[in-house]
Amino acid sequence: MADAPIGQVSSYSGALTPTTLLPDLGSLPHDSATTHVTGTSEFIDDRPMLKGELHCGLIYSPFARARLQHLDTAPALAIPGVVCAITAADVAHNMWGDVFADQPVIAAQQVNFVGEVVAVIGAQTKEALARGLASVVVRWEKLPDIRSIDAAVANASFIGHELQIAKGDALTALKSSPHTIAGVLKIEGADHFYLESQAAVVYPREDGQLEVHSSTQHPTQTQHVVAKACGIPFSDVVCVAKRLGGGFGGKETQASPFAAYAALVAKRTGCAARIVLTKDEDMIMTGKRNPFQIHYECGFNDAGKIIALDAMLYSDGGAYADLSTAIMARAMLHCDNAYFIEHARLRGQVCRTNFHPHTAFRGFGGPKGVALIEMILEDIARVVGRDALDVRKLNCYAPDRDTTPYGQRVENNCLPDLFEALETKSNYRARRQEIQAWNLDRARNPHAHARGLSMTAVKFGISFSTRFMNQANALVNVHMDGTLQVSTGAVEMGQGVNSRIAALVAEQFGLPCAAVRIMPTSTEKNANTSPTAASSGTDMNGSAAVMACQKIKHRLAALACALRAIAPEHWPTKTAGAATQPEIAISDRAGTFTMFPDATLHDARVDGTGATTNVNSPHATRVIFKNSNVIVSEPAQPDFQIEFSQLVSEAHFNRTSLSEYGHYATPHLAFDKVKGQGRPFLYFTQGVAASEVEIDRHTGEIKVLRVDMLMDVGRPVNHALDMGQVVGGFVQGMGWVTTEHLYYNDNGLLVSHSPSTYKIPCVQDTPRIFNADFIVNNANAVNVRATKATGEPPLLLAISVWTAARDAIALARPVHAGVPTTSTPFSGATNHTHSSSVNLGSQSTAKKNLVRLSIPATAERVLRELSPELFARWDAPSTP
Ligand code: MTE
Ligand code: MOS
Repeated sequence: MADAPIGQVSSYSGALTPTTLLPDLGSLPHDSATTHVTGTSEFIDDRPMLKGELHCGLIYSPFARARLQHLDTAPALAIPGVVCAITAADVAHNMWGDVFADQPVIAAQQVNFVGEVVAVIGAQTKEALARGLASVVVRWEKLPDIRSIDAAVANASFIGHELQIAKGDALTALKSSPHTIAGVLKIEGADHFYLESQAAVVYPREDGQLEVHSSTQHPTQTQHVVAKACGIPFSDVVCVAKRLGGGFGGKETQASPFAAYAALVAKRTGCAARIVLTKDEDMIMTGKRNPFQIHYECGFNDAGKIIALDAMLYSDGGAYADLSTAIMARAMLHCDNAYFIEHARLRGQVCRTNFHPHTAFRGFGGPKGVALIEMILEDIARVVGRDALDVRKLNCYAPDRDTTPYGQRVENNCLPDLFEALETKSNYRARRQEIQAWNLDRARNPHAHARGLSMTAVKFGISFSTRFMNQANALVNVHMDGTLQVSTGAVEMGQGVNSRIAALVAEQFGLPCAAVRIMPTSTEKNANTSPTAASSGTDMNGSAAVMACQKIKHRLAALACALRAIAPEHWPTKTAGAATQPEIAISDRAGTFTMFPDATLHDARVDGTGATTNVNSPHATRVIFKNSNVIVSEPAQPDFQIEFSQLVSEAHFNRTSLSEYGHYATPHLAFDKVKGQGRPFLYFTQGVAASEVEIDRHTGEIKVLRVDMLMDVGRPVNHALDMGQVVGGFVQGMGWVTTEHLYYNDNGLLVSHSPSTYKIPCVQDTPRIFNADFIVNNANAVNVRATKATGEPPLLLAISVWTAARDAIALARPVHAGVPTTSTPFSGATNHTHSSSVNLGSQSTAKKNLVRLSIPATAERVLRELSPELFARWDAPSTP
């Protein structure tokens, strides 16, 4: 497909051209690239200590649920250097939360998870702090707790109502389906493992004001939580987030209470106060990706076409609501993924347990729905005896089958083409044959290691599923030398949102990116912002910035037109100082010219005036911002050209504002959460990945041999940064589905709370061959510059590593057992794996080789599925 000009709305043609030469804005480096590499990037704890600044530390619960019988901080205060102790009684408004305000900032009488804070200590030195923390006297009375989804369901311990999405009549359709499979899929959580732990520094300013520097994805929420905890108006708190050493969703809500702890100390003492968690504290205290347990039944025909899906999703929300209900909604909204389901009943219920409150994590529930349907498709393929890719293609959204269970149509559907293209590009068919042969070939595979291959898809809905959150604002300041400062609500957490917004703004003015500086995110410049989340940071904040730019451009363009008609000695820079001439009137010219003949989509929306109506008029005056110049082009006249910086000076001396504010509200959204119907998403980012894995029969370890990915990211703003997100997100997802295992002890304490016990992917774990590519898709007309969000979607493609591991087990088990696939009986169930049952209809009663494997597919779990007999002696009840 040829490169369509910006904003030209062409429907997706279906011709995929994988290419690395997309029309992006130059793949410029990340705006922190140089400072990161030279070690000069500033994170929270790099801020120099002020004189008298205090270190804050926390006393927290060692039990999942306990009564706080006795808390005495006096012994700590007796230690030299310990300056203050804060408890629940010192918190002005001791309740916070995002969806529901149900969580105390500091617990008073009872704690509900390990890591719940009961006291904050402030001290002059780290040594004094350590001694102070050690001498606080606490007595707990342990209470019965709930530490599993099963226990929560049994006790009806829930958060929020059951959510439902329904389409057609799933229960009746299941009854009449030729085949059904049913089971329970268990998906565990994962730690965000950002490199910068939760951290904040708070400076008391005059007259009771607080300046908060926080490693937060949500400066507005942090501002609010701090203000309420301290009992001061929102206007007395400024929250600044310059950059995060990673967030991944873990700082969308959970940064706020830590900022509040430092703020309470700062307010009490009048000293600056800093809190920086250690990795261990951070992992113990903060919530993870919600664990899920999904009960499902799926009906399908002989060809493997899905007829009906009934799924009940339970999630472990932990002790407080946090974002879990919204995460559940997104999980349900992704149970279809790339596939058309005629009859669906999807229900979701968040469970309240005594774990840390679980929270946003890249994908925000989506990965759970997608894992479910991708696993089901693999199992269907096994039951009907077809290749899983064929079953996927059969079920894929297509022009006549394009309505999701929640009623949104899948527009700009690239999925069928993505499957086709990657099938060829990855050499799928030949490799499947080769893998099958390899698994059987003892000469080439003497250790009987198992290989598997699987291709999965992603169709990720872009927008917050809660409508009001889909708004953003931006402030653009043009300075008199022609350089710009841009402030938005977007938080730079490594994903490159700053560089993308800079590129969008630079393009608007025809300037090099170096002319645009993105300023630290601050609630004083951008108020009432949404968190940087849902992958929509660039979409929303970039749109707001572009809208602000266009307002400034309208004024500058009008002035340029006016200047053309005036002799330079009468221009404002020459006359304003001498006060010899009134301002040049420009307002009546605004709208009589066209800026950008190839107007971006936003031009039509700016001011709601439809300023582009005269785009096609041959008589239109055109004002073009290009190569740091502004060119006025009128029919039958020579072009008039002025340097951007010169025009900016003229504007200033003409008393014309060079600053603007833009507010963007994502259009077209209308989703009714109660009915579970409507349009929650502006568009879908799509992709496919084929992963080949090898499992070591002796250790159960999964090695990813090769990954081929093909993503639709629309028209990238920055190709290199998008590629970084795609491969980075995939590897992070690999960790979640394979080695990252949260292990809690009987008190509910996370025991795997450091890199030595919690295994994230390292460079050795990355795919040996890793081919990632984008398709050309310029047709995403609904979003700024036809781009698509990349932050979260690629993570979901790592599910192909898990399905490939299941494939490897299924392919290799009969080899090991020495029996053909169709007659291999189920191996014994263990409490680690999920269970499933198969109803194969009347034609066949043979049990199929279905693999039961939870997420994460740790080495032990894989080995248990592959060679259950190895565990017999460990699992046997011990004899004394
Ligand atoms: N990339 C890096 N390097 N660090 C991060 O913390 N967070 C992810 C993703 N990519 C993250 C990241 C998550 S969870 C989201 S929602 C998006 O970035 C948010 O940024 P965006 O909206 O600008 O894509
Ligand atoms: Mo991302 S989980 O939406 O912060």
